Amino acid sequence: MTRQYRITLLPGDGIGPEILAVTVDILKLIGTQLDIDFQFQEALIGGSAIDETGKPLPKETLQMCRNSDAVLLAAIGGYKWDNLPREQRPETGLLAIRAGLNLFANLRPATILPQLIDASSLKPEIVEGVDIMVVRELTGGIYFGEPKGIFETETGEKRGVNTMAYRESEIDRIAKVAFETAQKRSGKLCSVDKANVLDVSQLWRDRVTSMAEKYPDVELSHLYVDNAAMQLVREPKQFDTIVTGNLFGDILSDAAAMLTGSIGMLPSASLGLEKPGLFEPVHGSAPDIAGQDKANPLAQVLSAAMMLRYGLNEAKAATRLEKAVLEALAQGYRTGDIMSQGMKSVGCKAMGEVLLRILES
Ligand code: IPM
Ligand code: MG
Repeated sequence: MTRQYRITLLPGDGIGPEILAVTVDILKLIGTQLDIDFQFQEALIGGSAIDETGKPLPKETLQMCRNSDAVLLAAIGGYKWDNLPREQRPETGLLAIRAGLNLFANLRPATILPQLIDASSLKPEIVEGVDIMVVRELTGGIYFGEPKGIFETETGEKRGVNTMAYRESEIDRIAKVAFETAQKRSGKLCSVDKANVLDVSQLWRDRVTSMAEKYPDVELSHLYVDNAAMQLVREPKQFDTIVTGNLFGDILSDAAAMLTGSIGMLPSASLGLEKPGLFEPVHGSAPDIAGQDKANPLAQVLSAAMMLRYGLNEAKAATRLEKAVLEALAQGYRTGDIMSQGMKSVGCKAMGEVLLRILES
């Protein structure tokens, strides 16, 4: 029987529209092959939304997302909007959609593909076999804590303030996702905090520790975030699942991404307790190469695979997509960011065509 899904597409800014177009063509093909009827609807977010409506997340966009089975986002942001007041910046739209859909759990896998081992800036023996899942809390912490703002003090000097805060319930629900994720992987979970200095981190550590009793099959460890950053580049293979707060997760997931050679390869899934989840590449909108057909669409394609697996429960389609990506790399096709000697250099569209050809064969 045909399964029907309504998917909201958010192309956003920069390279966003290019990489999403490639991905949609691929989803359409997989749909016809596996009897899945994707109904795509497109909406505005980020800078393009600011240009058209004055707001980075128009109400209609949020409404459309809420009425869909999954949201596939490309990327937002660009120089053009960098100096606007904060409520009119593209990033504010991204934070608002995460909060608006209650997407508190952000899964960011960093897996080394054997085909790309030479693309890493670290030695092959350090990165070979790395397979890390960063579980980042996404709707709390210093990104959302109050008070925040730039305030004038009595002397007239300005003071910038953000607040890192977590409630027990916020820690518990992300820890639950992390323990369950670790259970499905190798059973190792490392919680990252700054409990040697921050009270909010002490509470984080206490809650995560007390939850460990419920998961006797998971081996829990703790690291301070500075040490975790160091360990990630020193000996990344010691990690399996990492759980951490919003800001630390932002930083560590970029570092973990780079182990794999290019941030242009990494997908992510943002999940709440209910549908829809939001699926987006970890990389940004790369305004410097926008519109030039140079972007690597694979993180977007792999985000669609995460959408199929985690958002729509279509594991078979997800695997098919992931295999096609591996096959394209095995056949030597590379975009600029992962290019190495002897490989076949392709642009964004051509990479999409390679994937279509592989899927059709
Ligand atoms: C990310 C990005 C965003 C974040 C920005 C664009 C708001 O860096 O998804 O990691 O900080 O969360
Ligand atoms: Mg980031």
